[in-house]
Amino acid sequence: MAHVALRSVRKSYSEKEILKGISMDIQRGELISIVGPSGSGKTTLLRIIDGLVPPDSGEIRIDGNRLTKENAPTIRARVGMVFQKPLLFDASVYDNVALSLKFRGVPNDLIRKKVEEALDLVKLKDLAKRNALTLSGGEAQRVALARTLVYDPDLILLDEPTANLDPANVQIIERALTKANVEMKTVVLVTHNIFQARRIAKRVALLLDGAVIEIQDTESFFNRPLDPRTRLFIDGDLVY
Ligand SMILES: Nc1ncnc2c1ncn2[C@@H]1O[C@H](COP(=O)(O)OP(=O)(O)O)[C@@H](O)[C@H]1O
Ligand SMILES: [Mg+2]
Repeated sequence: MAHVALRSVRKSYSEKEILKGISMDIQRGELISIVGPSGSGKTTLLRIIDGLVPPDSGEIRIDGNRLTKENAPTIRARVGMVFQKPLLFDASVYDNVALSLKFRGVPNDLIRKKVEEALDLVKLKDLAKRNALTLSGGEAQRVALARTLVYDPDLILLDEPTANLDPANVQIIERALTKANVEMKTVVLVTHNIFQARRIAKRVALLLDGAVIEIQDTESFFNRPLDPRTRLFIDGDLVY
C-alpha cells in the first residue's frame, strides 16, 4: 500500500484551477522530489498532502486512510512540514526544538536525548543555548528541520527548504534528509532546484501548470525524459 496516495486531486482559487487532477502514489521510505516552475502549484499540493488545505475534489490517503477534516489532526501527528521560511520562537535553539515534545508530554530526560540527537543531525549542538532569532537564515532553517525530525514523523514534507541558502547549509540539510530517508522515513521535497533533486531524490515528479506531466526514477527523469517539456525544464529553456 502506498504511504501517500493522491487521486484526482483538484483545487481552485477564485475560479482559477491551480491543481488539475493530481494522482500519484508515494511509497513508504521514498525520497521523492516535486519540481516545477514558480506558480505551478507545488506549495498548494504540499499543503493538501499535509491536511492544511482541503482539496475541492479527489482524495488523499495516508497509509490507506482517507484524509478528512476530522482525522487530519491524528494523521498530522505523524507528519512533519518544513516551510520555506522558518518561523522560530523568541527562545533558545534548544527550546525551539524541544517544544513539540513538551506539547506531547514527553519526559524531560527523553526530551534532552531527542533534542541533542536532532541538533547533532543538523550540526547545531554548539548553538543550543543561542536565541533562535539571532541565527543566520541557514542556521534557522536547520533549527526548523531539527524541530521536525525531533518527533520522528514518518512523513516529512519540505517546501523549498534550501532556497537562498549557501552551499554549506544546503549540504547539511541534504545530508540530514538523506539520513532520515535511510531510516525509512518518507520524504517529499518540493524544490525548484533541479540539481538538488538530482543529488538526493530517488524519484522526481514535474508539476507544470497544476498537472504532473512526468514522474520517473531520478536517473530516467534526467537522462530519458518522456515529455519534451521535461527536457526543456531540465535545460532551463522552459519559458512559462
Ligand atoms: N491561498 C491562495 N489564494 C489564492 N491564490 C492562491 C493561494 N495559494 C496559491 N495561490 C495561487 O496558486 C498558484 C500556485 O501557487 P503555489 O502552489 O504557491 O505554486 P508554487 O509553490 O509552485 O510556486 C499561484 O498562481 C498562486 O498565486
Ligand atoms: Mg511554492
